[in-house]
Amino acid sequence: MTADADYKPGLEDVPAAKSAVSFLDGKKAVLEYRGIPVEVLARESSFEEVSWLLIKGSLPTQKELADFDAELRQRRAIHYRLKDLIRCMPADGHPMDALHASVAALGMFYPCPTVADPAKNWDATCRLLAALPTVVAAFARSRRGEEIPEPRADLDHAGNFYYLLFGKEPTPAVRRVLDACLILHAEHTMNASTFAARVTGSTLATPYQTIASAVGALSGPLHGGANEEALRQFDEIGGPGNVKPWLDAKRTADPKYKVMGIGHRVYKVKDARATVLQEIAEHMFAESSRPKAYETALELERVCAGIYGPKGIYPNVDFYSGVVYSAIGIPTDVFTPIFAIARTAGWLAHWHEQLVGNRIFRPEQVFTGTTDVRYVPLAERP
Ligand code: COA
Repeated sequence: MTADADYKPGLEDVPAAKSAVSFLDGKKAVLEYRGIPVEVLARESSFEEVSWLLIKGSLPTQKELADFDAELRQRRAIHYRLKDLIRCMPADGHPMDALHASVAALGMFYPCPTVADPAKNWDATCRLLAALPTVVAAFARSRRGEEIPEPRADLDHAGNFYYLLFGKEPTPAVRRVLDACLILHAEHTMNASTFAARVTGSTLATPYQTIASAVGALSGPLHGGANEEALRQFDEIGGPGNVKPWLDAKRTADPKYKVMGIGHRVYKVKDARATVLQEIAEHMFAESSRPKAYETALELERVCAGIYGPKGIYPNVDFYSGVVYSAIGIPTDVFTPIFAIARTAGWLAHWHEQLVGNRIFRPEQVFTGTTDVRYVPLAERP
């Protein structure tokens, strides 16, 4: 039986797998995908190239990238009956719930019943990467009573997604921002959703079930859902001048109040991705007036640094991502689905890694119940 002393709530600091996909140093704000700093990739690379890098382990050759890109473009369209399914979903349902159901359904329309066939695994890998943007945009459009558009094979991954969401092509600057955001969210070591993917993958479930599990884990407000909550929080505060009284009131009501978009299990300094997103925001707002939400975020970061900084609690990736997404017109409840579109690359990289020398996850528990209890027949109970 496992001793209480061995129990680590939240598995903090417990290694759950060996992985070469990404490296994180939370004290130095270093995040590398297959050894390459995420800031460099956000500046120089594309989501397609980063997906290959994460899944295959090294940068693609020019031909490999061109072939991979073509494979993705071929798999963007979704079965018309999956569109019917999406049309039947409640318009006021959350897009993460729609995504979760649709990813599992994708596995019925494009079956991959065994994970023993590398060709089928690769087909599913490309389909999941390519079709998630279509699914997310399909729900976003159909819930507004709009037609579900067909993907465009002449646009890249980020450009096509924007087109599907809004029915128009992005400007080159907006396309670049979206591509950089996808790169920044593509992978992040052994977080909750990646662990969920690896646990489901370890049962030899299909890649669609594996990614559906990860989508479910990502949806919670302590994980991917924090970006939505962060933006709502800036709106609730209402402006930079209200930050201090707002935070004082929250902390008085609940001394353990959690400010959304700050804090991290691993980072003890400001998340490198938050820094890049802030740079993107600065660049975007240089030519226009700064939105109130961004001004509020800047002031909240400043005030929080004084209070929580000594505990190593600083902005994480979700602090500025919502401000950036909102500035390019993306609805608040679509922020986390975009996170999922991006993180699918990392989840799939971990799934492929898990399948090599796989062992099913089966941890222990610290039993806190009672044993040998007599069953009392219902008639004898009050
Ligand atoms: N605001 C205020 N205090 C915070 C905080 C936050 N966002 N995050 C952590 N803390 C404090 C806790 O109150 C606790 O204080 P204590 O030592 O006095 O009890 C300490 O920091 C440790 O917090 P804990 O919740 O145990 O850390 P964790 O590693 O379990 O949780 C998060 C990490 C991310 C879940 C947590 O920081 C959080 O809820 N952040 C807000 C949600 C968010 O932005 N999530 C996105 C993550 S990328």
